Amino acid sequence: MFSRRTPRSLAPNRLSEALARRRRQGLPILDLTRSNPTQCGIELPSEAILAALGDPRVLSYEPEPKGWLGAREAVAAHHAAQGAPVDPDRLFLAASTSEAYSWTFKLLCDPGDEVLVPCPSYPLFECLGALDGVAVRHYPLLPELDWAIGRDELEAQITPRTRAILLVNPNNPTGSFVHHEDWLYLTDLAARRRLAIVSDEVFFDYRLDRSVRPVSALCLDSEALVLTLSGLSKIAALPQMKLGWMHLGGPSALVAEAAERMEWIADAYLPVSAPVLFAAPRWLSLASQAREAVIERCRAVQATFDEACAGASVVRPRRVEGGWSLLMEGPRSPTGADLALQLIEKDGVLIQPGHYYDFANEGFVVASLLTPPLEACAGATALRRCWTNPSDF
Ligand SMILES: Cc1ncc(COP(=O)(O)O)c(C=O)c1O
Repeated sequence: MFSRRTPRSLAPNRLSEALARRRRQGLPILDLTRSNPTQCGIELPSEAILAALGDPRVLSYEPEPKGWLGAREAVAAHHAAQGAPVDPDRLFLAASTSEAYSWTFKLLCDPGDEVLVPCPSYPLFECLGALDGVAVRHYPLLPELDWAIGRDELEAQITPRTRAILLVNPNNPTGSFVHHEDWLYLTDLAARRRLAIVSDEVFFDYRLDRSVRPVSALCLDSEALVLTLSGLSKIAALPQMKLGWMHLGGPSALVAEAAERMEWIADAYLPVSAPVLFAAPRWLSLASQAREAVIERCRAVQATFDEACAGASVVRPRRVEGGWSLLMEGPRSPTGADLALQLIEKDGVLIQPGHYYDFANEGFVVASLLTPPLEACAGATALRRCWTNPSDF
């Protein structure tokens, strides 16, 4: 009766079951996976955020497929302030970055077509692709080369049905920005093979390592079509407001045709509500304040983990260039999955095993850098104890 777009089984995994059991028993949970800034005690300018919702223009309805120009100009101004000037006319507003992915797939792919996604990376790709009838094929990011793209492996994944190469810049959860040389390689490859590049840059403004000089897809000089996705959920730490966007870049003739088709898709949905559209310029003007608070938290939590794991022979927090995730590397045995299960059952500490992100190597777990510092400290200590003392297993 149901389509194959939804999973055959929706049964919870072992970790979700253990977590649910603990909740039912009313036992405390130290959650190192929270990545919703509204739940992590990060101070945001609440009154100004709320006041922006009172614009009287919300009482009328004047739909525009690309989204109200005033909001697109504010998005363009935001990117310009970050060093990437863009034309508001090349922007499309959607209800979230996830929705922007869906429109991207609708624009580029027929059912059964394929896109290439990095591995490890954002776990929602598989599901977002499936919902649009698009198959996902993985190409590796290489840990031994600071997560550079495995080029031979990527090219081996290209088939006549491949339509796009997806990237997350900086990647979640490796925290690595796309390398300069990889950009040059990708733009050349995509142009030669007539593929689009799709760059998810929701975390781009969260550069934690001051020594890196990241390049945004918005600044690429490309002969291929380049779609850059972002949104308020990370840029302004406002996931509940539901506003994402997409920018079309590349050769002007290709962009013009893509824009015409994208307008047709967007016109069928018109998803962004008027209160959000009219509030967006104000929220974007407050965003740098929110980002400073989030960056401060991320750096503090990173330092907490580094300290808690200092001198440990087996647990190593990896360097984070940008984003909200911290990757920790430890022994392959016990696996990240067993470790996560043990931590929730014995210590009530919730952490994400690396296999959620399709790591080839089992010895990775992921924590959120938004975790309140005291909890991060207790969680990191439990993690170190558990991983350095396999006899506990
Ligand atoms: C890499 C990445 N892209 C997109 C999103 C989703 O963004 P949105 O809330 O705008 O759909 C997330 C959410 O965590 C993410 O990690």
